[in-house]
Amino acid sequence: MKIDILTLFPEMFKGVFEESILKRAIEEKKVDIQIHNFRDYSMDPHHKVDDTPYGGGAGMVLMCQPIFDAIDALRQANTKVIMLTPSGIPLQQEHVNMLSKEEHLILLCGHYEGFDERIRSIVDYEFSIGDYVLTGGEIPSMVLTDAIVRLLPGVIKEESYQNESFQTNRLDYPNYTKPRNFRGMEVPEVLLSGNHQEIMAFREKMSYTKTSERRPDLLEK
Ligand code: ADE
Repeated sequence: MKIDILTLFPEMFKGVFEESILKRAIEEKKVDIQIHNFRDYSMDPHHKVDDTPYGGGAGMVLMCQPIFDAIDALRQANTKVIMLTPSGIPLQQEHVNMLSKEEHLILLCGHYEGFDERIRSIVDYEFSIGDYVLTGGEIPSMVLTDAIVRLLPGVIKEESYQNESFQTNRLDYPNYTKPRNFRGMEVPEVLLSGNHQEIMAFREKMSYTKTSERRPDLLEK
């Protein structure tokens, strides 16, 4: 898979893509991630990318020209263009599963008051990562990239995500490791029993209880 990210702040991506699982996935060529500054596509002599909104109001609006030209330059036959904004559809695991099967994604990170509305005409999906407003689409596009890359073949073991919370609509059961007693807190006896059926039943019950307490909406799915 190839992911091109269009941003005004390419430096923000450095640390995130240079550590841990993402770093290894890039090194092992499971994914090719390229960061582009869409200011480089501006035809303005001062590389301007934004202007004041028609009709007045606060802030600056990202202009069509640099973004249209950047996407024209990067687009392939099989490209999906994704915009990250607070007014997008709330991102869910099912969207991530679907996007992980694509060949080429272009992620568009907004800033300031947002995008000229006409940019939406060349976008396939618009996602929000939650009902709160961030300073820009950079962190959301890191979140989306991370969620997608871990699902690519060979990046992590498939069994690590098959049973996890948002694939099964149940929150994870509690896990424990050594020692058996830490500051008076005991590991549940059943986990030491070696009885796999009982352990499975215990985990199932804990997972259900936790989900019904914290996220009853998941049980309705
Ligand atoms: N840009 C600013 N806030 C955002 C959010 N919550 N999700 C996606 N993009 C954003």
